[in-house]
Amino acid sequence: MKIRSTRLRAPLAVLCCLSFMTATDATGGGDGAAVFSRWCAGCHSDTPFSPGTVALRATRGDAGAVIENRHDLTSDYVENIVRKGRAGMPSFRRTEISDDELGALAAYLSTREEAQP
Ligand code: HEC
Repeated sequence: MKIRSTRLRAPLAVLCCLSFMTATDATGGGDGAAVFSRWCAGCHSDTPFSPGTVALRATRGDAGAVIENRHDLTSDYVENIVRKGRAGMPSFRRTEISDDELGALAAYLSTREEAQP
C-alpha cells in the first residue's frame, strides 16, 4: 500500500501544479483591470447603486467617488485597504486575490493618470 501511494504522489503533484498554472493564466496573472472587474466593480462601478461609489461620494465628493477615475490613490494605500477592509468594505484574503493579482490591481488603480494622458 505504501509503495502504491508513493507512486501516485508525483503525478498528482504535477497535475495539481498544472491546474494551478492554468487557473493563474486564465485570469491573465497580472491584469489589474480584470481583477478589478471581478472583485471590485460590484461596489465601485460608476452607478448610483454601487455602495462603494455612493459611500465615497458622500465622504470624498464627486471627484473621489469612482475609484477607477481617481488620480490620488497610491498602490500602498490600495493594497492596505484591500487586505484590511474598511467601514462597509470587506477585506480580501490571498486565497481570493493573490499577492500578484493585488500588485497588478494596485498598479492599475494608481497609474490611471499615466495610462490616460
Ligand atoms: C461590498 C462592497 C465593496 C467591495 C466589493 C469593494 N469595496 Fe472598496 N469600498 C467600499 C466602501 C463602502 C468604501 C467606503 C468606506 C468608507 O467610507 O470609509 C470603500 C472604500 C474603498 C477605498 C478607499 C478610497 C478612499 O478614498 O479612501 C478603496 C481604495 C477601495 N475601496 C478599493 C477597493 C478595491 C480595490 C476593491 C476590490 C478588490 C474594493 N474596494 C471592493 C465597498 C466595497
